[in-house]
Amino acid sequence: MPGKPVADAVLADVGQRVAALRARGVTPSLATILVGDDDASAGYIRIKQRQAADLGFDSPHRHLPADATQRDLLDVIAGFNADPGVHAVLIQYPIPGHLDYDAALQTLDPDKDVDGMHPLNMGRLALGMPGPLPCTPAGIEALLAHYEIPVAGREVVILGRGATIGRPLAMMLAQKRPTANAAVTVVHTGVADWPRYTARADILVAAAGVPGIIQPEHVRPGAVVIGAGVRYEGRRLLPDVDEACERVASAITPRLGGVGPTTVAMLFRNAVTAAERATA
Ligand SMILES: NC(=O)c1ccc[n+]([C@@H]2O[C@H](COP(=O)([O-])OP(=O)(O)OC[C@H]3O[C@@H](n4cnc5c(N)ncnc54)[C@H](OP(=O)(O)O)[C@@H]3O)[C@@H](O)[C@H]2O)c1
Repeated sequence: MPGKPVADAVLADVGQRVAALRARGVTPSLATILVGDDDASAGYIRIKQRQAADLGFDSPHRHLPADATQRDLLDVIAGFNADPGVHAVLIQYPIPGHLDYDAALQTLDPDKDVDGMHPLNMGRLALGMPGPLPCTPAGIEALLAHYEIPVAGREVVILGRGATIGRPLAMMLAQKRPTANAAVTVVHTGVADWPRYTARADILVAAAGVPGIIQPEHVRPGAVVIGAGVRYEGRRLLPDVDEACERVASAITPRLGGVGPTTVAMLFRNAVTAAERATA
């Protein structure tokens, strides 16, 4: 289950929605904030800006120095909050260690929260209210739908209860809609015999960030496996799911190019939705 065809379909839809906004005189705008001089983060921002431009977004950018204060960061966020021409804001993570990311995120206008990680948006998700969805879990739901993997009524087991993937994904896939509606189990370090749960899953999602934690014996033959957890060692990407799982799974995300492209596509979907809502 490569992510690119899914991302391409989502981005084609985003492109059409951007064109419709532009046709009525609205230029959707996704602002980006980078703090510090981390090469990888600067690279990610450049890629997103290029993609934003290709899709027809404006993307005002603020780059703060590595020694910026929390006040400096909050001032930039407040500026974007107050600007009606900015519809969505991305604060590139991580930020330097002396700054408090969570505290900064809480000052962002939740309707401009393109990552869907603001506490109010997590609350909206829990209550089934509309709002930006966390990008990686939203991408996983889209991936399953794109490859026509039945989810409703089936057992999904998620390894990891992190705020980025496991926790929001569990809420999403348990909701009552055709692409979800599953029996969801979440396992973590508090469940010592977690392999007992993963081995019975129809759909197994690895979101632990522990390289190779999922081995073939943890996968029910014929199950669907989604590898979302990764750890970086330098530039090397080490996925949670061992490649040997390909032998037992009926469908599996590739080592590279699985949930990464769908995550980015969901960011732009959140951004265009924010622009539509703000200008409706
Ligand atoms: N591919 C992408 O686009 C993308 C995007 C975002 C994040 N990620 C990756 O996804 C992973 C999860 O991120 P996150 O922020 O949601 O989670 P997180 O905060 O990193 O938490 C990891 C979760 O995995 C569990 N876990 C860790 N080691 C385990 C073990 N040995 N046995 C059982 N459970 C274990 C932890 O259990 P406890 O709660 O008990 O500690 C925790 O719930 C990370 O690797 C991250 O890099 C990928």
